[in-house]
Amino acid sequence: MSFAVKLISWYREKGRDLPWRATHDAYIIWLSEIILQQTRVEQGMPYFHRFVEAFPMVTKFAEANEEDILRLWQGLGYYSRARNMHKAAKMVVNDFQGIFPNTYEEAIRLPGVGEYTAAAIASFASNEAKAVVDGNVYRVLARYFGIKEPINSGHGKKMFAEIAQEMLDGENPGIYNQAIMDFGALQCKPKNPLCADCIFQMECVAFQERFVDVLPVKLKGKGSRNRYFHYFIIMEDEQILMSKRGLGDVWTNLYEFPMIETAEDRSKLDLMTEADFTEYFEEDTVLTIVGKQIKHVLSHQNIYARFYVVGNPHALKKKKKSWNYHYYEKIDKLAKHKLIFSFLEKNEHLISAKQLE
Ligand code: ADE
Repeated sequence: MSFAVKLISWYREKGRDLPWRATHDAYIIWLSEIILQQTRVEQGMPYFHRFVEAFPMVTKFAEANEEDILRLWQGLGYYSRARNMHKAAKMVVNDFQGIFPNTYEEAIRLPGVGEYTAAAIASFASNEAKAVVDGNVYRVLARYFGIKEPINSGHGKKMFAEIAQEMLDGENPGIYNQAIMDFGALQCKPKNPLCADCIFQMECVAFQERFVDVLPVKLKGKGSRNRYFHYFIIMEDEQILMSKRGLGDVWTNLYEFPMIETAEDRSKLDLMTEADFTEYFEEDTVLTIVGKQIKHVLSHQNIYARFYVVGNPHALKKKKKSWNYHYYEKIDKLAKHKLIFSFLEKNEHLISAKQLE
């Protein structure tokens, strides 16, 4: 039996029953695939349902305002995905008469749609014979064929793309693509793969030669930059000071608390002597640390965040233009990035206690 036939029969028995698999609607498939980029299925699922409910058709998505989209997106991270979705939806309305493209050639023209997503849309929506290549596919193929070529070198990428396309079942590309991704997610897992009861034991080169755990090989990147963010929770008359981030850095246009960034970590006392701090805050400012330092990992940077409640009134000497007061009950409506969103979820009492005073 061929690889594809065995894989598909495994999938029919063991594959997951996921809501976006019950449709051939290219728009719904696109929604699910963008949400699932860099996001686990369990985490993405509630967002998928929320988006389908809010925007059942691409025309509704295109008409929405960006703030509403970002608010629904809150907590997923990588906000450029949501912004590109909005651009793509508008492009579908303007250039494709509101009909979501279901071919590879057309889909790949949309912002935020790369080779993987275009192949997923085309194969799931219209059974076009394009192989998806994601992290699961790299892992399954690297192990099955015992390939030690790095998956992120120029040569490696090309080689894996060619092999993936060769292995694809030309009759059932949609099911085959779902199957290989599920096989990677459920059976041929990154850690502790279930080799003991695997249907490919006999053919799998890495299993036979005992090097499953070193595959796939990945070249190390340049490494990440560390940044230290110090957030201030400043409340006054049932309002809280929020800051809207600008262009040219992470989290464009998203809301957070007023913040000072330092290149190295700083204790509370050292922070209070920084020029950036003394420019905006009075000398007698009372800071209370809330919780532990949070590490937030982005693709090329690690952000270490600390949160302080400013305890005394009139601690602020002056305000940046981007800092504005918002009533507590309106904070929900602002599109905040994940650090702030999670902080507020965990520390709701800070603000509701204040409201009760
Ligand atoms: N992750 C990304 N796309 C997926 C899909 N279609 N099914 C399961 N997991 C996925």
